Amino acid sequence: MCGIIGCVTRSRDIVPVLIEGLKRVEYRGYDSAGIAAIERGGELGIRKVEGKIDKLVALVDEHPIEGPTGVGHTRWATHGVPSELNAHPQTDATGKIALVHNGIVENYNALRRSLEAKGYAFRSETDTEVLANLISENYDGNLEAAVQAAFAGVQGAYGIAVICADEPGKLVGARNGSPLVVGIGADAYYVASDVAALVRHTRDVVYLDDLEMVVATPDGFSTTTLENEDITKDIEKVTWNIDMIEKNGFPHFMLKEIFEQERTVQDAMRGRLIAAAGDAILGGLRDHRRALQNAERIIIIACGTSWHSALIGEYMIEDLGRISVEVEYASEFRYRNPVINPGDIAIVISQSGETLDTLAAMTEAQRRGATVIGIVNVVGSTIARQSDGGVYTHAGLEIGVASTKAFTSQLTVLAAMALMLGRSRDISVTEGRQIVRAMEAIPGQIAEILSRHESIKDIGTRYARHTNFLYLGRGYNFPVALEGALKLKEISYIHAEGYPAAEMKHGPIALIDERMPVVVIAPQDAFYEKILSNMQEVKARGGRIIAITSEGDDQVEKMADDVIEIPRTLPHLTPILSVIPLQLLAYHMAVERDCHVDQPRNLAKSVTVE
Ligand code: AGP
Ligand code: GLU
Repeated sequence: MCGIIGCVTRSRDIVPVLIEGLKRVEYRGYDSAGIAAIERGGELGIRKVEGKIDKLVALVDEHPIEGPTGVGHTRWATHGVPSELNAHPQTDATGKIALVHNGIVENYNALRRSLEAKGYAFRSETDTEVLANLISENYDGNLEAAVQAAFAGVQGAYGIAVICADEPGKLVGARNGSPLVVGIGADAYYVASDVAALVRHTRDVVYLDDLEMVVATPDGFSTTTLENEDITKDIEKVTWNIDMIEKNGFPHFMLKEIFEQERTVQDAMRGRLIAAAGDAILGGLRDHRRALQNAERIIIIACGTSWHSALIGEYMIEDLGRISVEVEYASEFRYRNPVINPGDIAIVISQSGETLDTLAAMTEAQRRGATVIGIVNVVGSTIARQSDGGVYTHAGLEIGVASTKAFTSQLTVLAAMALMLGRSRDISVTEGRQIVRAMEAIPGQIAEILSRHESIKDIGTRYARHTNFLYLGRGYNFPVALEGALKLKEISYIHAEGYPAAEMKHGPIALIDERMPVVVIAPQDAFYEKILSNMQEVKARGGRIIAITSEGDDQVEKMADDVIEIPRTLPHLTPILSVIPLQLLAYHMAVERDCHVDQPRNLAKSVTVE
């Protein structure tokens, strides 16, 4: 589920390429790392560590390996504890085949037993070692043929890269359910799970689809299906620049990405709003505009932060578009027996475009006849390619595991979509123009919030030692409360819960005392008076309040211990602004607690396992 890099050249030593590639995918979260290279004597050199890549670098410095063909991996353990033994590359019993693997082999027990019956002994607890031996069992001098034969019997999700000491100039990759991209360099070919690992070396890439494989040598590469049918794939250009993978002076990627939001929100609406018509045009939905307009129901499917966008999207589309919307966790939807009626539209939201549950839910929705629209950030990702239509969020590479800029870009796209639906139903041109004007003002308003960074930092630093937080919001800001609490949990490991403010009195109020700070999102909207009452209820029980409120508010100020003001906008656009102080609060509490902000423990950037 984490990082794969592989490289084959004619004569250059690729160990530095493997290490650099692994560093580029470090952001995805991992617990151990390793590399293998076919050394000049024809032997496999392998170096593995439990822990971070710096440790691997130190090991390689002390015990160098070098060679022109190799693979590297960052592991996010699924089968067996994080340890040097369980780290990848895993080798077969002969020690000639080295394999790196992302994903899970579901029938690994059965495969392991049948290999054991044939005399194979296993050193690690991983499902990956089973794959290495399965390839070995089928190996007869041709690595790609062995991979094809082996994977005919494998169930589950995998992205793999494999090399064999008997065929030193060959690198084989294959995928099913876990991303793999081929990079075409000037004097080298690469495979990787993420273009970030390649972008320093090449912009020319080929995205593999499920059940496809690649064989690369120093002279070229070929793609086939796992059943050995030749396939011709388009070479695509990566549009990222190297700046996107650097911190550019910020201490963490997360802070850099929070600060990028003025621009990324702008990019998400660029070319999509038509001021005169008070409308929005989304190119990827051109063929589906009629279907959307006539839809009886829209189901929005996502996980995590993207699920919070979905909740806000529900309110936006029902408000503006007047279409009934349901929001589902992808992991629930895929295993329920959901009712899909003719004409239903499913919208799937995913930053990475690779989340396994979301992908499976989307396939299920398509199987049942829904048209699936993707709102995706990573260009060329599986969800982007497999949806029927879609809109890119254009937030650029998001490296911080805790999603920030991708979230506000998702909200911007959803707002544009809601406007488009509204205008095709019952929003007037005058109202449409007002919405476009409000959307166009958002980037400048984000800049205004970011200019208050120092005072938000001060609040975050002061509250960082608390161990529990409650986040409350109403209407559009209820999902923002969920997102604020998730951000805090993810990166600072402080326990936090988000609630619709009115639900507090149905249970969570029992938790409130002077040790429980409550973050209340209380802009001056239709719920303002109500949320003031909820704040009174907190105060009456000694709770401490950090409030997010509209500029110029004086009522909230009287009740809250700390106040962060945000500019005024239309209610459905407020979340794009109100979430930003919450991102900064979580960030500063995590920094104050010395947490690994960009790679929080146990988390992975894209969750390609169940
Ligand atoms: C966000 O901060 C999280 N790390 C996580 O909840 C994430 O939003 C979720 O895994 C969904 O990812 P996706 O948007 O790439 O599908
Ligand atoms: N299932 C494999 C293991 O536990 C691969 C995990 C990963 O995707 O990093 O070793």
